[in-house]
Amino acid sequence: MKVLILMGSPRLDGNTALICRPFMEEMEALGAEVRYLALAGMDIAPCRGCYACQQVSGEYGCPIKDDMYKVVDDIVWADLIVLATPIYAWYCAAPMKNVLDRHYGLNKFYGRGEGSLWAGKRVAILATHGYEREYACGPFETGIKRLCEHSGLIYSGLFSVRHVNDREDFASEEAVSGARAFARELMALKP
Ligand SMILES: Cc1cc2nc3c(=O)[nH]c(=O)nc-3n(C[C@H](O)[C@H](O)[C@H](O)COP(=O)(O)O)c2cc1C
Repeated sequence: MKVLILMGSPRLDGNTALICRPFMEEMEALGAEVRYLALAGMDIAPCRGCYACQQVSGEYGCPIKDDMYKVVDDIVWADLIVLATPIYAWYCAAPMKNVLDRHYGLNKFYGRGEGSLWAGKRVAILATHGYEREYACGPFETGIKRLCEHSGLIYSGLFSVRHVNDREDFASEEAVSGARAFARELMALKP
C-alpha cells in the first residue's frame, strides 16, 4: 500500500509529529511505502477561489504554482491519504486547511472540466487535541466524511490522542500501541 501522511501542525516536532512516528514505523514494518509531508515547512498559499482549476480536465490546473503541486503529485500516487493534524478551533490547523481548500482542482464539479484525479482513494485521520475526543474531533471528522462523500473517497477512520499533560501523553504505551494498532487496521484494508 502507498501511504501519504500529510502532517498539518505548525509545530514540525510537536505532538502530532510525535504520534505519526509509531504509526509510520508500523506501516513500514508491514510493507507500506510511506511518504511524509510536513505541510508547515512547505510553501502552500490559501485558495483564491478563482475556479480556474474547474475549467481543465485531466490535470490539477491551479494557477498558484507553489508546493501544492508536490502535494497533489503525492495524493495521485497514494492509495491512502492520512490527515495528521492537531485540532485547532474545532477543525484542523491552518497548514492543513490550506491543503484541504486547495483540493478543488482534484474534483471538476463547477466548470467545463470533467473527471476526478483522486476518486476511490482512502482517507484516514490521525488527530491530537486538548478536549475529550468526540467533542474535540467531531466537527473535523464530520467535515472530512462529507468531503469524502462529495469527492468519491473512502473514509477509513480516525485515531486520536488527547493532550492532557505534556509530550509524554504522545509517548505513552497507550498512545504508541494505539497508533500502531490503527496502522495495522488500515493496512488490513484493500488499497
Ligand atoms: C491555537 C490552538 C487552538 C487549539 N484549539 C483546540 C480545540 O479547538 N480543541 C481541542 O481539543 N484542542 C485544541 N488545542 C490543543 C491542541 O490541539 C493540542 O495541544 C495538540 O496536541 C497540539 O498538537 P501539535 O503539538 O502537533 O501542534 C488548540 C491548541 C492551540 C495552540
